[in-house]
Amino acid sequence: METAELEKLIKGRRSIRFWDDKPVPEELLLKAVELASWAPNGANAQIWNFYIVLDKSKIKAIGDAAAANMKNMMSWPEMANFKGFTPPPPPPGVEPPPPPKRSPLSDAPAMILIGAKRRENPMDKMIAERAKTDEQAAQRLQWSGAIDSRIQSVASGIGYLLLVLHQMGLGATWMTGPISQAKGDIEKILNVPPDVDIIALVPVGYSTYTPVSFRKLVNDVCQVIK
Ligand SMILES: Cc1cc2nc3c(=O)[nH]c(=O)nc-3n(C[C@H](O)[C@H](O)[C@H](O)COP(=O)(O)O)c2cc1C
Repeated sequence: METAELEKLIKGRRSIRFWDDKPVPEELLLKAVELASWAPNGANAQIWNFYIVLDKSKIKAIGDAAAANMKNMMSWPEMANFKGFTPPPPPPGVEPPPPPKRSPLSDAPAMILIGAKRRENPMDKMIAERAKTDEQAAQRLQWSGAIDSRIQSVASGIGYLLLVLHQMGLGATWMTGPISQAKGDIEKILNVPPDVDIIALVPVGYSTYTPVSFRKLVNDVCQVIK
C-alpha cells in the first residue's frame, strides 16, 4: 500500500453518529475486532475484552442507562454553572453537522464495547509497597500512574478498530462519555466479569452522512529535536 493510500484512509475516517437502517454483518465486526487485536499492546498481555452487541434491546438499554444517568447529573445544582462540551467550530466555509435524527447510541445498529482486564502486576505491587518509605519508588509509582500502560494498550486496539471499521465502509465513534455516565449499569447489562472495566464503547453502523473535521498543523503539535 502506498503512503498516499494510507493517508486517504486515515484522513477519510470520521466519528459517525448518524445511522441508516442497514444491518451490520456480524462477520465484518468479528473481522474488525480480530484485526484490532493485532495492535501493539503492553507486554503483549492482550488485556482487552471486546463485546460485539447486535441485540437491539441491549443497545437500547445501554443508551437508556447513559441518558438516565446524564439526566440525573443535570439535576445537580452544580450543573447550573456548567456550560457543557462545545465542539470546536468548523473551519470557515464548512457547514456544521445537522443534529442527529436518531440517537447516536440507542439507535445504533451495532455496538462494540471495549473492556480492560485488571491484572495484578507483582512489580507494581512491590513498587507500591516500597513507595511508602522510598521517595524514588514513590516518584516511579506516580509516573507509572501517568503512563497507565493498561489503558494505553486497550486504546491502541480501539484506534486500530476504528480504522478497520472505516476501511470496511462502516461508521463508528469512540465514546467514553456514556461509560463515565453509566459504567456500572452497562457492565451489568453485558454481564461483564468483575475483573474487567468497560472503558469505551463504539456504536457502529452504515451512514450516508460524513461530517467534516480538521486537525492542527503538524508543526503546531510536533517538535523535531536535532
Ligand atoms: C478517548 C475518546 C473519547 C471520546 N468520547 C466521545 C464521546 O463520549 N462522545 C462522542 O460523541 N465522541 C467522543 N469521542 C470522539 C471525538 O469527539 C472525535 O474523535 C473528535 O472530535 C475528532 O473527530 P473525528 O474522529 O471525526 O476526527 C471520543 C474520542 C476519544 C479518542
